[in-house]
Amino acid sequence: MKKCNNVEFNINNVGQTVELCGWVSKKRNLGGLVFIDLRDRSGIIQLVVRPENKFYELASSLKTESVIKATGEVVERESKNSKIPTGEIEVIVTDLVLESMAGDLPFEISDDTTALEDTRLKYRYLDLRRPTLKSNLMVRSKLMNVIRNFFYEEEFVEVETPVLCKSTPEGARDYLVPSRVNHGKFYALPQSPQIFKQLLMIGGMEKYYQIAKCFRDEDLRADRQPEFTQVDVEMSFVDEDDVISTTERLLAKVFKEMKGIELSLPLQRMKYVDAIRDYGSDKPDLRFGMKIQSLNDIFKNTEFTVFQNVLNANGEVGCIVGKNCADKYSRKEIDKLTEYVKTYRASGLAWLKYSEGEFSGSIRKVVTEEELHAMKEQLEIEENDLILIVADKYNVTKTALGELRIKLARDLDLIDKNDYKLLWVVDFPSFEYSEEEGRFMACHHPFTAPKDEDIDKLLNDKANCYSKAYDIVINGYEAGGGSIRIHQADVQAKMFEALGFTLEQAKEKFGFFLEAFNYGTPPHGGLALGLDRLTMLLVGTENIRDVIAFPKTASASCLMSECPNLVDDKQLQELGINITEKGQK
Ligand code: AMO
Repeated sequence: MKKCNNVEFNINNVGQTVELCGWVSKKRNLGGLVFIDLRDRSGIIQLVVRPENKFYELASSLKTESVIKATGEVVERESKNSKIPTGEIEVIVTDLVLESMAGDLPFEISDDTTALEDTRLKYRYLDLRRPTLKSNLMVRSKLMNVIRNFFYEEEFVEVETPVLCKSTPEGARDYLVPSRVNHGKFYALPQSPQIFKQLLMIGGMEKYYQIAKCFRDEDLRADRQPEFTQVDVEMSFVDEDDVISTTERLLAKVFKEMKGIELSLPLQRMKYVDAIRDYGSDKPDLRFGMKIQSLNDIFKNTEFTVFQNVLNANGEVGCIVGKNCADKYSRKEIDKLTEYVKTYRASGLAWLKYSEGEFSGSIRKVVTEEELHAMKEQLEIEENDLILIVADKYNVTKTALGELRIKLARDLDLIDKNDYKLLWVVDFPSFEYSEEEGRFMACHHPFTAPKDEDIDKLLNDKANCYSKAYDIVINGYEAGGGSIRIHQADVQAKMFEALGFTLEQAKEKFGFFLEAFNYGTPPHGGLALGLDRLTMLLVGTENIRDVIAFPKTASASCLMSECPNLVDDKQLQELGINITEKGQK
């Protein structure tokens, strides 16, 4: 076995003989000597091979990324390198073994590589040799360890739940697995262990957690993968505050042990409606200000027909104020912002700049002096401020301004990358009106408990029904979410009715699960944290692939193993599957 790590050695080890193993990260011939930067998981150490050494020729012939074992004496370096921990020493090689010579590399292995991500994903095992990726995986491993220790100390039981299961009602599309012994039937891979963890509560487990693989066939984004990992939790005899405070204790331990940061508990809580009102998002990034403000009162009697029409239709005239940045936004730049908000369905972007006591901008001529004055007061406008206004349906205005707020903060470099702002978003609506379907749909799964005071509204006032659901938001990411579940049969029946299911339909869909509630169900609730997202936040990357050893591309494929792939006809026959050309039956 490898005896030691490169970075264990420093000036105090001068004179010692060491045996080192690793990869040739760099090799240079200088003044007749061969210098090798030997890399192992811990870092780099410099080897020197002198011309009189019998391994000199072998050393000279080594190609980058070859694997070697070297024995030698630690000596103090003449020219020191303060950038690496072993920079004061080098090892004069006395014995050298070539374990394996590397061929020509498809890309240079270094953190500032310019290789395309696709190339790096094809040769992921080479990409993993880069210090950043390696370090990310080590952070992830430590994080899992901290999490497991926390739950062990708090007397939670780690239980594994099936991966081949029946489809669960999480809202995304399932990955299906055909059954060989039951032709025509399919398993679904779990979108989360939701149903199983609730059954574990009915089974009397009381406190459960699992670091669980989940699978969702949904449109991928920078923070989404088709297979990802959740820290899944469920507890019996609890209310919202219990789940929230347990999660806060876990996060406090994570931030303390992983980053040395003391979180101040309890964390802030924000109601869903307030998050949408002020930030246009249910996962607000609180590392910067620029809250969305309503201009409805100021423009309630406006002559400007665009605003008038919006307000007459119960819409929203809202704005954000970019402080001291008006001079940074030319007309052309503002045109780009307009295109940006249009991608969020806003019909346009009005703007005003304030400079040397004067307003100028796209709506300068159509607003009155009184309206300008009122804006100046309400928005506390100062020299060189930029006001960006969207007038549209309430949700469109909020979403567009929420996205614009983030874009502006990034463009203006307002975000402190070392800052962490955590908050709970609470009191989510139970239902969401789907224009497409023409009816109210469940915001979460149908087992999410409504607020006690809203149970009576389930059937006839859905728009004002709120649930016992909560999300933990970190720096604008939904890092986790959960809820208290319904545990009384009559409330569950009401919920199904509210969602438009008959009891028969509900039984058909969730039969075995509903049956379980008939035999004594404790009040219970829980949540799941996205382990990948939490790791992303801790290492400071915006790309989820940077924290997963073997991730998939945006089209859910693995460029290295080339999956998904075609399979043998024989395999298909065994499964009773007939592949038809796209579009044929
Ligand atoms: P939810 O669907 O909100 O809740 O998922 C919980 C957390 O999992 C992470 N997450 C993802 N991470 C990476 N890629 C994805 N495709 C992906 N989808 C979700 C997010 C999210 O907050 N069963 C419920 C939890 C509960 O009610 O207890 C659930 O799965 O960080």
